[in-house]
Amino acid sequence: MNLPTLELASVTAGYGNNPIVRDFSARLEAGTITTLIGGNGAGKSTLLRAIYGTNRLFSGKILFQDEAIEYLPPWERLKRGIGFVPQGRCNFPAMSVGENLKMGCYTLPAARHATAIDRVTGLFPLLGEKRRTEAGNMSGGEQQVLEMAMVLLLEPSLLLLDEPSLGLSPKMQADVFATVRRIATTGVTVLVVEQNVRGALLISDRALVMEQGRKFMEGPAAEVRTDPRIRQAYLGGNIQQTAA
Ligand SMILES: Nc1ncnc2c1ncn2[C@@H]1O[C@H](COP(=O)(O)OP(=O)(O)OP(=O)(O)O)[C@@H](O)[C@H]1O
Ligand SMILES: [Mg+2]
Repeated sequence: MNLPTLELASVTAGYGNNPIVRDFSARLEAGTITTLIGGNGAGKSTLLRAIYGTNRLFSGKILFQDEAIEYLPPWERLKRGIGFVPQGRCNFPAMSVGENLKMGCYTLPAARHATAIDRVTGLFPLLGEKRRTEAGNMSGGEQQVLEMAMVLLLEPSLLLLDEPSLGLSPKMQADVFATVRRIATTGVTVLVVEQNVRGALLISDRALVMEQGRKFMEGPAAEVRTDPRIRQAYLGGNIQQTAA
């Protein structure tokens, strides 16, 4: 139960000559959900991209299931089981939802496509209902769900989610959180960045807090949730938060 899926050791990462995330260390255990909290521009997306390999790693080590992966390109990391759902909209807006899901299967053997698509439409019935809808005509939130489904088709063992509930109605946010929880109970390790900090902390085992690219705090989600500094900065009483 205590096997680390991912270990970050003093990761410094960013873009060009600009390190954004600095000296960041963390350990994610198998089957756990960790939420990464931080203000706008803190470097949360930058850290997820560093784990997936789409930006520059200046120094530090990234171990995935005990293998150093920091020199591997993103597709090699994907092959090993790292799935990344970036912030934003879907990739193939002019195709139907069903066609998008078929595209998402392209690295799987043909014999597994139908089962993989059935599995994710089971997780997100909405996608089955909208199979013939052009993906670009769905709401932003629905497109976000499609993106998550596309990555889940490949059965990752580590799932990196950047703002999965952004733009979703409270009901759909709750659905996404419940789904993330369900995914983790199947043994998948999840690292999630969320604007709905309260909702994310409620489904998470642990939390990492980043300020200006550095780790500011970490601990069990239940403890971080009650920390006065976190309450003040991210769960502020004067800010209306959507409960999951
Ligand atoms: N592609 C890029 N090239 C250069 N700098 C970038 C790039 N993406 C982000 N940055 C810079 O890195 C810093 C951190 O950005 P990042 O997107 O990681 O923040 P974030 O914590 O995800 O913020 P948000 O909550 O707004 O999504 C910002 O100053 C941003 O300008
Ligand atoms: Mg971001």
